[in-house]
Amino acid sequence: MADVTFSNVQKHFGAFRAVQDLNLDIREGEFVSLLGPSGCGKTTTLRMLAGLEFPTSGEIRIGDRVVNDVAPGKRDIAMVFQSYALYPHMTVGENIAYPLKKRGVEKAERARMLKDTADMLQLTPLLRRKPRELSGGQQQRVALGRALVRDPKVFLLDEPLSNLDAKLRGHMRAELIELHRRLGRTMVYVTHDQLEAMTMSDRIAVMEGGKLQQFAPPQEVYREPSNRFVAGFIGTPGMTIIDGALSGSPGAWRFDAPGISVEARHLGPDAAEGAASMGVRPEALTIGTGDTPATLRLVEQTGHENIVVVSIGDIRMTGRTTPDKVWSPGEEVMISIDPDMPHFFADGPNGKRLNAKPSPRGNEPSHSLSNLSEVSP
Ligand SMILES: Nc1ncnc2c1ncn2[C@@H]1O[C@H](COP(=O)(O)OP(=O)(O)OP(=O)(O)O)[C@@H](O)[C@H]1O
Ligand SMILES: [Mg+2]
Repeated sequence: MADVTFSNVQKHFGAFRAVQDLNLDIREGEFVSLLGPSGCGKTTTLRMLAGLEFPTSGEIRIGDRVVNDVAPGKRDIAMVFQSYALYPHMTVGENIAYPLKKRGVEKAERARMLKDTADMLQLTPLLRRKPRELSGGQQQRVALGRALVRDPKVFLLDEPLSNLDAKLRGHMRAELIELHRRLGRTMVYVTHDQLEAMTMSDRIAVMEGGKLQQFAPPQEVYREPSNRFVAGFIGTPGMTIIDGALSGSPGAWRFDAPGISVEARHLGPDAAEGAASMGVRPEALTIGTGDTPATLRLVEQTGHENIVVVSIGDIRMTGRTTPDKVWSPGEEVMISIDPDMPHFFADGPNGKRLNAKPSPRGNEPSHSLSNLSEVSP
C-alpha cells in the first residue's frame, strides 16, 4: 500500500502555478527524493504534505487517510526545514527533547530517548551547549535529532545537509542511509543535489517548473531519462545534448548535426524524421581514436581521471579519460561516439525520450533474429 499519495495536486499562489498536476505514490518505508532546480516546487510539495500549505486542488493521503484538512500536528510526520529553526534559549538537549516534553513523555523515558538520539548523531558531548555555540553542521544535526526523537510515521527532510561542508555532507549522507535502513520509515527528502538523490534514494521524483518529470529508481533516471530536461539535469559531468535532425525510417535512422553524423540505433516507435536532439554521456565518448575530427578545448585533472572538453564546430562535448593521457588545448583529436549509448529526444527543451524501452532481461540491446541467423551452426 502507498504510504503517501498525491492525486492531481495543484498549488497556485495567485496566478502563479507552483505545483501542477502532481501524482505521486510513495510506498511504505521508501526513501524518495524530490529533486530539481531552485524554484521547481520541491519545498511547496513537502509543505503541503506537512500541512503547512494547502493544495489549491487535489488530494493528499498519508496511509489510507486523506489529510487535506488534517492539522500538521495530527499527521504523524516530522519535518526538518531548509532553515532549521532551533530554540536559541534552550540547550541542545532541551531542543532535541522538546517534542517529547510537549507530548508528555515522562522524564526518565525522555532522558533515555534523548541519549539514544544524541549518541546516534554524535551530539552527546554537546548536549549542554546553546545553539549559538554550535557550528552550522552541528545545528543541522540537532534539528535532525529533534525530528528523529519523535519517531513519526513519515519523515520530511528539506535540504537537511545544505549547510554542511563537503566532508561532513558525505558523512551525514552515509548516516542517513544507515538511519533509514535501521528505522525503516518512509522518508521524503528534498534536494537540488543530484548526487545526494542518486546515492540515497529508492526512487527519485525529478521536478521542473512545478511539474513532475520522472519518478523512477536512480539507475533508471540515469540510464533512461524520460525527457531532455531530466537527461541534462542528472549526471556529473553532464550529458552533452546536441541539436540536430533524424532522418531515415524505422530500423535505419541517422542523426545529423553540423560535423556529426551517426547511426541512430535503438529508437522506439515515437521516432520521426525532423528536428531532434541527441544526448551523449561522457562515458559514451572516446577521445583519441575514432572517425570524427574534433578540437581539444579543456582538460580538467581531478586526480583519478581527466574531464576533457572537445569541440566540433559550435558543439562542445564532455568526455573522460584516464589521467595518463596528456593533451594540450587547441590540439586536434579524433573522437568517436559509441553508437549503442546515445539518448535521443524529441524537439524542444522537455522533448520526450525517443529510445526504445530496453529489453526486460537487462540493459544490453536486444539482438534481432537477423543477427542470430548470422551465427554459424
Ligand atoms: N508563499 C508563496 N507565495 C508566492 N510564491 C511562492 C510562495 N512560496 C513559494 N512560491 C514560489 O513557488 C515556486 C516554488 O517554490 P519552492 O520553495 O517550492 O521551490 P524549491 O523547489 O523548494 O526551490 P529551492 O531549491 O530554491 O528551495 C517559486 O517560484 C517560489 O517563488
Ligand atoms: Mg526549497
